[in-house]
Amino acid sequence: MSAISTDLVTVRGVRKRFGAREVLRDIDLNVSSGSITVILGTNGAGKTTLLRILGLLERADEGTVIYDGIVPSVSTVTYGASTASPAQDKRYLPLRRQMLLAFQHPAIFSGSVLSNVTYGLELRGISRADAEERSMAALRDAGIAERAHQHASSLSGGEAARLSVARALALQPPLLLLDEPSASLDPYGTKLLEDLLLHMRDDLGMTAVVVTQDIFEARRVADQVAFLHEGRIIEQAPRDTFFSHPRDDRTRRFVAGELLV
Ligand SMILES: Nc1ncnc2c1ncn2[C@@H]1O[C@H](COP(=O)(O)OP(=O)(O)OP(=O)(O)O)[C@@H](O)[C@H]1O
Ligand SMILES: [Mg+2]
Repeated sequence: MSAISTDLVTVRGVRKRFGAREVLRDIDLNVSSGSITVILGTNGAGKTTLLRILGLLERADEGTVIYDGIVPSVSTVTYGASTASPAQDKRYLPLRRQMLLAFQHPAIFSGSVLSNVTYGLELRGISRADAEERSMAALRDAGIAERAHQHASSLSGGEAARLSVARALALQPPLLLLDEPSASLDPYGTKLLEDLLLHMRDDLGMTAVVVTQDIFEARRVADQVAFLHEGRIIEQAPRDTFFSHPRDDRTRRFVAGELLV
């Protein structure tokens, strides 16, 4: 990472309710450009919801998300009672196209594995021939080139996760949002994913926000770590500080593998 880091995404005061239940409260988060930010947290803490808000798939009830320098036309999304879902708002389409979200349960379109990768490229105006060449290279790097012509819905869980990685590699979006990408990967797949993440950061200048339950994975890939607990970010810090000098006792216990009850 360069010494001067700017924030690609800045979250301020984000709140989210589902019915009467507040699942995200006063969320402040900084994602610096060209870095990997890992969000750790227990089940139901609000990690997926936060990632969906960052990816403009879900609206927040309050707060602001600033996307700095991703597209010239839109940079700030301010949420309030009258704000419609950004997923339905065409103004945010150019911004959404610069992000790739890979979820816990990857959205797989019908059709072949290959077409699942080429689709996003063709949507962005790349010719079929170029899209196929780039996609095949990405499938090779993600270790599933042999599955290219198989129906995507027949992939195993780990293969589907590799398909998500291949999509990211082919598209090389400025912002990558990954929800537990290694949850169904075997140790080889996990190593491959982590190496590719570091390659995307170091050689392609991409920025990633990665949700994981795996403290060891966070230690291996994170530049910054944020700990989300019961809808609040308890602590955000550079990796080494986060693990060796956590400020909050709940962070310390989580890092030590103790149950937070
Ligand atoms: N559409 C929804 N309607 C109602 N409640 C929801 C909805 N989506 C999420 N929730 C609730 O919000 C809380 C946070 O969910 P979220 O999926 O963000 O958690 P998470 O941190 O990703 O958990 P996990 O580690 O299990 O994936 C959960 O209690 C969940 O039940
Ligand atoms: Mg989740």
